[in-house]
Amino acid sequence: MLSLGVVGCGYWGPNLIRNLGTLSECKIKLVCDIDADRLAHMKKLYPEAQTTTEFDNLLEDAHIDAIVIATPVRLHFEMTKKSLQAGKHVLVEKPMACSAEQCRELIGLAEKQKLTLMVGHTFIYSAPVRKIKEIVESGELGEIQYICSRRLNLGLFQKDINVAWDLAPHDISIILYVLGEDPVCVNCQGKSHVVSGIEDVTNMTLNFANGTFATIQSSWLDPNKVRETIFVGKKRMLVYDDLKSMEKIKIYDKRVEVPPHYDTFGDFQYSYYYGDVYSPYLQQVEPLRVQCQHFVNCIKTGAKPESSGLEGLEVVRILEAASESLKNGGGRVEIAKPLAPYAYGQGLRPPGA
Ligand SMILES: NC(=O)c1ccc[n+]([C@@H]2O[C@H](COP(=O)([O-])OP(=O)(O)OC[C@H]3O[C@@H](n4cnc5c(N)ncnc54)[C@H](O)[C@@H]3O)[C@@H](O)[C@H]2O)c1
Repeated sequence: MLSLGVVGCGYWGPNLIRNLGTLSECKIKLVCDIDADRLAHMKKLYPEAQTTTEFDNLLEDAHIDAIVIATPVRLHFEMTKKSLQAGKHVLVEKPMACSAEQCRELIGLAEKQKLTLMVGHTFIYSAPVRKIKEIVESGELGEIQYICSRRLNLGLFQKDINVAWDLAPHDISIILYVLGEDPVCVNCQGKSHVVSGIEDVTNMTLNFANGTFATIQSSWLDPNKVRETIFVGKKRMLVYDDLKSMEKIKIYDKRVEVPPHYDTFGDFQYSYYYGDVYSPYLQQVEPLRVQCQHFVNCIKTGAKPESSGLEGLEVVRILEAASESLKNGGGRVEIAKPLAPYAYGQGLRPPGA
């Protein structure tokens, strides 16, 4: 039986605690937050777990095998580093850290200590995203021409990161996971309307070597909640609406064809094809539960998590390039190539990469 410590009981931490608490192979021993009210609330829900306001108590507890970190992003690096140094496996929330350099240090440390390091890229564990990957790989959509992802809502404003660092890790991890490829360059524009210096609206573009491009719109300043990703293939189009309770994925047999030959401008006509729309069956499982079970399995077997430190680094490298682009008004920023062939979720790259 694995014994776990969890730090951070704000919005997201309690979801992790609830899901980890349902797994038969682990128990939550110690829960930490600096906010005594949050701790009292957690104690009411989980009377068998101990509570503390001191993070060091998790590190010092010899019975704790793994630490789950759901604190603000600025604390991810330090808490993950201390946990690994104390010999604990780590599940850290997204984004993994505040810089690629920090991610590389954590990957190296986890390898040295032979510990599992996993990042909470929750959506890659969701049934719709797994189904989309299967559909794209089967060739049903044809070659992917572009992807458009929108994650909008009113709030929740963060104090230490902009909206791209807060929301885009979801879209980036989904896109990289589905395509199995890294972008070669990024453009990003954005603006801060509420807190000076912290962009609350951003538009990012990822360009891939094969010509595919993906746009990611992130906003804390929108009247409507939107969680939508559209994959436009040469043969078919797929719409993934995560807010729908049923039929989250719809495949449209629609395309536009340009005639291969025409003699005069009058002969030239686009041909629009309108076919059926269908929605594939999806298992109803909470993605966070699958993610938590995967973390426990990886600790037990020593397998590399599908969202390991390497995938965490990949997302942070893109966010870093996006921040650089934001600073220069949206200009193109190249993403340095990884040293070894690598695709999201299949990484065998050395820690220095
Ligand atoms: N995977 C997902 O789908 C998902 C969804 C939402 C949030 N998140 C991530 O979860 C993390 C937390 O986000 P949130 O929205 O819950 O934030 P939050 O601000 O609601 O909660 C953070 C909690 O950490 C506590 N905390 C702060 N400093 C601490 C310290 N030194 N020691 C102990 N506790 C401390 C705070 O008191 C607070 O209760 C972020 O990294 C965020 O990106 C992930």
